[in-house]
Amino acid sequence: MNIGVLASGRGSNFQAIIDAIREGKLSAKIVVLITDNPRAFAIERACKYGIPHIVLNPADFASREAFYDRIAAELRDRRTELVVLAGFMRIVGRPLIAAFPNRIMNIHPALLPAFPGLHGQKQAVDYGVKISGCTVHFVDEGMDTGPIIIQAAVPVYHDDTEETLSERILKLEHKIYPEAIRLFSEGRLEVHGRIVRIAGGEREDFSVVNPSF
Ligand code: GRF
Repeated sequence: MNIGVLASGRGSNFQAIIDAIREGKLSAKIVVLITDNPRAFAIERACKYGIPHIVLNPADFASREAFYDRIAAELRDRRTELVVLAGFMRIVGRPLIAAFPNRIMNIHPALLPAFPGLHGQKQAVDYGVKISGCTVHFVDEGMDTGPIIIQAAVPVYHDDTEETLSERILKLEHKIYPEAIRLFSEGRLEVHGRIVRIAGGEREDFSVVNPSF
C-alpha cells in the first residue's frame, strides 16, 4: 500500500510509521512526505530513509483550494492509497478530502470528541479530566470530527502538566497509528456513516484500551 504523509513539525508519528514498516509490522511504502514547513524535522527523517519530500508554502498559492489541489495532484501522481496526517497543523481543504474520501487519517492527542483543535493535552489538564488519550480518525472537513478508528486511554494525574501528559499520550500515539494503518492496509476498516467497524476483530477490541498496548 502506498502512503503519503503530511507533516508540519517534529514527525515522531511519521517515524513510528517508518519504524513499523522497517520492522515488518506494516506492509506499506511511504511514497512521499509533503510539508508546509521548510524547517520541519520530519524532512530530516525523510532524507535519512530515502523518502522523497516536497515543501509547499500555502503563501505561494492563489487560494486555499489551489494549495490542496496541488497536494492532491502530488499524491495522485505517486499512486497514493492512504494519506496520513502526522502533525499537519492545518485543516484539510475540500479538494484533498474529495480526492481521497475516507482515505485520509489523522491522530489527535485527546479522546475525541473531547478537546478537539490545538493543545488537546493542555485542554485535558486544565479541564481536570482523570482519563485522556489519543484518537485515530478519518478526516472530514471539520476540525477533528471524522469517523473514529482507534482510541487509547491514559490516566491523568493531579500533578500532570501539558508536557508530562503529552509524553504519556505520545507513547500510545506511536502504537495506535501504525496499528490503524495496518488495519486499513488489510481492508479491515468498514465505514458506515460515522461508525467505523473493524472486520475480523475479537468484538471491537481495538477501540478500547488494548492491554497489549
Ligand atoms: C501529535 O501530538 C499528534 O497527536 C498531533 O500533533 C502531534 C504531532 O507530533 N496531531 P509529531 O510531529 O508526530 O511528533
